[in-house]
Amino acid sequence: MNEVLNQLLNRRTVRSFDKRDISEEDFKSIKKAIMRAPTGGNMTFYSVINVKDQLKKDELAILCDNQPMIATAPLVLVFLADMQKWMDYIKYCKSDEKSGIPFRKPGVGDFHLAMQDAVIAAQSGVVAADSLGIGSCYIGDIIENYEKIQKLLNLPPQAAPACMLIMGYNKSNAKVNLLDRCSEDLVFMDDEYKSFTKDELDEGWEKPLERLQKANRLPYEGATLADSFYTRKYSTEFMKEMNRSVEVFLDRWKR
Ligand SMILES: Cc1cc2nc3c(=O)[nH]c(=O)nc-3n(C[C@H](O)[C@H](O)[C@H](O)COP(=O)(O)O)c2cc1C
Repeated sequence: MNEVLNQLLNRRTVRSFDKRDISEEDFKSIKKAIMRAPTGGNMTFYSVINVKDQLKKDELAILCDNQPMIATAPLVLVFLADMQKWMDYIKYCKSDEKSGIPFRKPGVGDFHLAMQDAVIAAQSGVVAADSLGIGSCYIGDIIENYEKIQKLLNLPPQAAPACMLIMGYNKSNAKVNLLDRCSEDLVFMDDEYKSFTKDELDEGWEKPLERLQKANRLPYEGATLADSFYTRKYSTEFMKEMNRSVEVFLDRWKR
């Protein structure tokens, strides 16, 4: 197996870091890798806020569903789907007047494209960091509490939170314990979408279910992975809040 594959197949999320700051040199390499990520039409529809202010990190730890590791992580990067820079640039240049093409507000297609850009860039950062012995964890809860996050980071309407990464050097005794995924059969489809029977879904999710069974982390005796997901994730307050918050920032984006 080559080195890149070996690294990709052994990456796992890290939530507890060595206290050391990320070196200037390593941060430069991570930034370069982020900038080399594919981007729609080479337009770089994203921005990355490096949250250095400890008070802001503390606040983010609370706003992102109370995850204290955010406050202590050496590096906290918020990735934004960002059309604001383009909107500003078009305005400065009066590109609509000059071209005779009436200005249109950014829509959900622009939003989706910029989101893709931001997340792809973040993942390049994850891979680069991993290669330098720097562990990382995505924080999906950055899409909650939009109004407060917007104020905290001074976000204009067309710069919306896509994802957040916390990073730090791996502790030397960090164990690599990979989490099983569902089976490949549930993921890879030929030529068209394939729906699955309950038995196929049970079988496909067998390994992750076993882990929860062993760790005694199922919501009740005999629960399937669907029961666990439904109870522990899908129906939770944080998922309700994510849905509410995204509606708000999508609405603001289109205004
Ligand atoms: C979109 C997204 C959001 C996530 N949000 C969080 C989070 O808020 N807190 C956390 O501890 N881990 C979070 N994670 C990490 C996942 O829990 C982790 O990737 C998953 O359990 C699989 O583990 P692995 O990355 O070690 O294989 C997130 C991952 C992704 C891709």
